[in-house]
Amino acid sequence: MITMKDIIREGDPILRKVASDVELPPTAEEKNILESMLEFLKNSQDEELAKKYDLRPGVGGLAAPQIGISKRMFAVHFQDFDGAEYSYGLFNPKIVSHSVAKTYLSNGEGCLSVDREVPGYVPRYQKITLKATDLNGNEVKLKLKGYAAIVFQHELDHLNGVMFYDHINKGDPFFIPDNTIACDQ
Ligand code: NI
Repeated sequence: MITMKDIIREGDPILRKVASDVELPPTAEEKNILESMLEFLKNSQDEELAKKYDLRPGVGGLAAPQIGISKRMFAVHFQDFDGAEYSYGLFNPKIVSHSVAKTYLSNGEGCLSVDREVPGYVPRYQKITLKATDLNGNEVKLKLKGYAAIVFQHELDHLNGVMFYDHINKGDPFFIPDNTIACDQ
């Protein structure tokens, strides 16, 4: 079972590597790892289990490099502001199209691999279409917008060695680019 002690923290070079494609179909081991990543997210959202295993509560996503595996896979488990649930383990996720418009969370972003608050806006595409292979081996095509689009892009970034704060404007962390609106409840 994955716990916080398994989470790679910033400073480790693996978080800056471009992860390799998973050769499909995935091996049983790769599937097990991705399933345990999804389980970790579910546990972190269960108040009792989060306390018992000292997990950081309410985490929405986890990418394989964050547990030291440089392969293109991530898990997400969260509800968007409308209460819609997203729960996936995905192999080789890829954005196939996106909006021009961007959005950002007014409270900024956080990351399991980052043990500090980094203030500033993280502009991301407001809408994306993402293709991937799920845990059942099915090809999925997801149309995502707003908060959901933000969470998936954060995890996808981890597969490319990108941290959320790389997107924050260096001179003015709260700068709002053109075509960009806040993603709020
Ligand atoms: Ni992260």
